[in-house]
Amino acid sequence: MSSLSEGMKRLIEPLSFIIIVLSISIAFAGEKIGGSQDKKFGYDYLNPNIPVDKRVEDLLSRMSLAEKIGQMCQYNAGMKNAGQLARDGSVGSFLNVTDPGEIERLQHAAVRDSRLGIPILFGLDVIHGYSTIFPIPIAWASTWNPEIVRESAEVSAKEACSQGVRWTFSPMVDIARDPRWGRIAEGAGEDVYLGMAMANALVEGYQGRKLGPESRLVACAKHYVAYGAAAGGRDYNSAEVSERTLREVYLPPFKAAVDAGAGTIMSAFEDLNGVPATANSFTIRDILKGEWPFKGFVVSDWDAVTELINHGVACDSAEAVMKAVIAGVDMDMVGPYHDHLEVLVREGKIPIEPVNDAVRRILRIKFEIGLFEHPYPDPAMAKSGLMLPEYRKVSREAAREAIVLLKNDRNILPLSRNIESIAVIGPLADSKPDMLGCWPCQGKPAPVVTLLAGIKSAASPQTKVMYAEGCGVRDTSRSGFAEAIVAAKESDVVVIAVGERAEMTGEAESRSSLDLPGVQEDLVKAIVATGKPVVEILMNGRPLSINWSAEHLPAILETWFLGTEAGNAIADVLFGNYNPSGKLPVTFPRSVGQVPIFYNHMNTGRPPSAERFTSRYTDIPWTPLFSFGYGLSYTKFGFSELNVIPDPGVKDRFLVTVDVTNEGKRDGIETVQLYIRQDCASVARPVKQLAGFRRVELAAGETKTVSFILTPYDLSFINAGMERVVESGPLEVMAGGSSVDLISKSTVIEKSMPVAEKVPIY
Ligand code: BGC
Repeated sequence: MSSLSEGMKRLIEPLSFIIIVLSISIAFAGEKIGGSQDKKFGYDYLNPNIPVDKRVEDLLSRMSLAEKIGQMCQYNAGMKNAGQLARDGSVGSFLNVTDPGEIERLQHAAVRDSRLGIPILFGLDVIHGYSTIFPIPIAWASTWNPEIVRESAEVSAKEACSQGVRWTFSPMVDIARDPRWGRIAEGAGEDVYLGMAMANALVEGYQGRKLGPESRLVACAKHYVAYGAAAGGRDYNSAEVSERTLREVYLPPFKAAVDAGAGTIMSAFEDLNGVPATANSFTIRDILKGEWPFKGFVVSDWDAVTELINHGVACDSAEAVMKAVIAGVDMDMVGPYHDHLEVLVREGKIPIEPVNDAVRRILRIKFEIGLFEHPYPDPAMAKSGLMLPEYRKVSREAAREAIVLLKNDRNILPLSRNIESIAVIGPLADSKPDMLGCWPCQGKPAPVVTLLAGIKSAASPQTKVMYAEGCGVRDTSRSGFAEAIVAAKESDVVVIAVGERAEMTGEAESRSSLDLPGVQEDLVKAIVATGKPVVEILMNGRPLSINWSAEHLPAILETWFLGTEAGNAIADVLFGNYNPSGKLPVTFPRSVGQVPIFYNHMNTGRPPSAERFTSRYTDIPWTPLFSFGYGLSYTKFGFSELNVIPDPGVKDRFLVTVDVTNEGKRDGIETVQLYIRQDCASVARPVKQLAGFRRVELAAGETKTVSFILTPYDLSFINAGMERVVESGPLEVMAGGSSVDLISKSTVIEKSMPVAEKVPIY
């Protein structure tokens, strides 16, 4: 040893110390948990080189009943005994713990101090961004661009993971056809096909192509299932949905999320046809885990297990626990599993199998994402991983793609950058918190760019920009009108931002009216009365019945809530730096009395017309104010040459081509939409149904041929026997830039056949 240099000694001494400590702790760990041990890793379950299923079985075989139940419990942040729960192995997951230091502390307690060292999965509602906030999900869907949505989710995952969060309760894939329901803001809108594409993009953005050690966040598709069908649009209300509609409309986006590899599913609050989703063996055990079969785990919604008592299907919380576990709810979000499950199993009221199954599923996800190997937040990332300029860039890109131009008479938009004066008016024109929308996660108002700030930075320095709030969003006071009118009179153009407060949208925010709240419409009228050109900027989380504006204003932009870069994105569109390309993912009714109104309705026996005794209203048209898929551009697109060619090699497959031409003088982006209709089948089919879409960039004057493959899945539906099938018969194929302005071609489906429930990759 004497021949070793001092440097080598310094290296070797600490190394031998570490080796001694390691051997002691391995030996000690052996004592703690017993059984045979792998030389290097201690136990099989600690060895990342053996298959996940084996690790799961090894760990499961070492767990006590209490430890198993611990894995099935999720607790909220801020519990006084959180550290103790972790040390005891009594917790599988925490939600809402956001401080990386606290995450590390609790994780230490679980990994170092608990008997088996099972790491905790930290979950959070990272719904549309973590710190850098993106457009709300309904706005994401308005981009009709899965790629930018995927990219946004990837950024959200990077930020969240840098802070130690490894699980998000997103995407919400509930089909929503009722704008009274506040949670319509949180999903992709009314359409199944678009909903599946967004589900796929979000899962892939959070998890990557495959759930594995590289996955930053585990996705959670929610709320399973048919939560969006709440009667009357009233949140948490019962849903009455036929099995056929369930399988055709509400289940497919969940299937898309599962096929994209989503690690978890959240069961919903509502009762579905009388059986609460939290106790629904048919939807969870039979369909999700049986038919599909989903390999991840199911978490309940917030305290939904206890709510089984209110639903009236459990007399007390022990019975509620029993029903939820038997139905297949693997993890209990802040509910009573912890209080009753052990006794229920010991007394034989619940067999051990569903418990073992639940624990296997939870452990499998933890192993798959490498949580045992990397349980802690990376300190370097925790410091520097948020709000990077490149993240804001993605947010701005997503935000401007989400904007839908609803009206642009006489091409008053885009505005000239050198316009002399602009009045920016309205209660939402300079409101930072509202731009973050519902579920802002860790997004803070300070870095948000409002419409006013965006306009100021985009207009020329010579442009005079005036601002007046005019009124509050919900207030009844008109005292601010006078100031707003003066500003309008002194300007060349008025940009007025009206809509909803962010907090009026999302969970528990159902509304019975779809009108602009408060006196906002009166403000709009007062400003229009000045005779100045007025551009309305809608900021809202649901379709609004803005009939007066639609009739009297020359220009309207639907901007939803666009996130951190909202103002910059809207200014990009206002001044023509970005030619608007968004399309509505949901129908805008003329009146709340038309709800539910959606584009893919049935024809009925008496299709609506001007005639009496047809399916219409007597007081207003039956048609919507703005249709699904609708959205204008600063240029104009034309469609021609629609061809539908049967695939000679594969039955019930078609190649569809259509030419799209930019007929205007500006470059632009059109979303080519493909619809199908089968008007004679064994069950009634919708008047049209989205079966493909593609965003196409076109220079002024340019024509491109866009092609689609219509697969048997695209043509399929659920028949009366609850099977997914294609039926032979005439097929109409339609293409265009919205659901109402289409060219069409007829063809024939030759062969009837069953189709697998396998969602095509988007
Ligand atoms: C919501 C879920 C959410 C959960 C956790 C519930 O109230 O319905 O969507 O993920 O809370 O915050």
